[in-house]
Amino acid sequence: MPSPVHHTFGPHVDSAYLRKVLAMSYVPWRYVHGTAPLRLKNVLREKFRAEPVLFSSGRESLYALLKAIGVKPGEEIIVQGYTCVVVPNAIHAAGGVPIYADIDPDTLNLTTDTVRPLLTPRTRAVICQHTFGIPADVKGLRKLCDEKGVVLIEDMAHVLPDHKGPDIGFHGDYLILSFGRDKAISGISGGAVMSRHPRTTAALLELERTAIHDSWWNVARLLEYATRMHSIVRPLSGTPLFRPAVWLLQKLKMIVPVLTSDEKHGHMSHVLKKIPNACAELALSSLMKLRALNERRRTLSAFFARHGRAHNWPMLAGAAADLPLQKFPLFVLNARAKRAILKQENIHLDDGWTGCVICPEDIDLTETGYEQGMDPAAERVCRQILSLPTHPTMTLIQAERLARRIDMLLKEKQA
Ligand SMILES: Cc1ncc(COP(=O)(O)O)c(C=O)c1O
Repeated sequence: MPSPVHHTFGPHVDSAYLRKVLAMSYVPWRYVHGTAPLRLKNVLREKFRAEPVLFSSGRESLYALLKAIGVKPGEEIIVQGYTCVVVPNAIHAAGGVPIYADIDPDTLNLTTDTVRPLLTPRTRAVICQHTFGIPADVKGLRKLCDEKGVVLIEDMAHVLPDHKGPDIGFHGDYLILSFGRDKAISGISGGAVMSRHPRTTAALLELERTAIHDSWWNVARLLEYATRMHSIVRPLSGTPLFRPAVWLLQKLKMIVPVLTSDEKHGHMSHVLKKIPNACAELALSSLMKLRALNERRRTLSAFFARHGRAHNWPMLAGAAADLPLQKFPLFVLNARAKRAILKQENIHLDDGWTGCVICPEDIDLTETGYEQGMDPAAERVCRQILSLPTHPTMTLIQAERLARRIDMLLKEKQA
């Protein structure tokens, strides 16, 4: 059985990543406390020319930011349809109301045209998410937000620019970074707000100071994610033992879930946690390799774009440039059925970003404030999208195999 093609089986976990986790297991007293958060801050500050404040996830960072800017009950935060449920959850937790702007199907991002009609005197902020690493029109949004006196937040969970771009991360009042397991860089968990306004920075630093430490056991469990993915999930995928093994790992709580059941039902904890030292150490090591990580993403994205053009794949116009994409999106008919066929061949393209405008599909949509029909383009996208992996542990050989398989699927009758 060839090695699995996947989005979620430890996309950052290569042998260097494992060695780093192993090295940390020799100094377990540094799991929670240590100097890594400070060192990570120094690098982030220099890179983004903004003041970093760290928490244990991107969603907590967004919640903390909305608290720090003093969102009042009922104030509106414009966010795009086709986003992760943790984004509206953080808005609700801060007392705000998410307002969903439709996306441009060529970039999967909101635009000035979709945001403008939604601006009201109650609008407090616009969150511009560079979906899958495709840059949003952040300059246009900056201009619009300046005209209306609205805060612009760039959500950089999916991409961090390097010396080759893209030109994002320098126009927002604030940036949200995630160091989650499948994000631009990975500390397995962790997140940051980058602030360009001293008064908000002071409020954020106070929230960071009073945030609680995660427990040692929880950090140990987080770190085990790397070995579990590398030594159990990947080797067993494609074998009959895969499903029972994953079921058991989840039942025994040996893998920390990305979303809790409460989060799937619209409720985010109001407790802020500090980034664990071990996660900051991993995120820092990942950040120091950003050029190489992005280069691999560029190589795979360019390969899929080239192959796709040659074989008439239904691709996004906005994704065809030289970008370090977090994943490479296609639009196909019967996307769900195609994913099911591929899964039998050890190609796992379920990434949670399908089937519902607020992802993943098994959340309680009524709690998000989104109503069917609000964002027609986003609804079409999530039905038809088929995303191909471009992560750091995906190889070109796997990409070639996947591309050939996609060619065959697209030629079949129902395509
Ligand atoms: C667009 C977007 N923003 C923010 C987040 C939050 O990141 P984290 O998982 O670190 O809380 C996510 C997570 O999936 C995301 O997809």
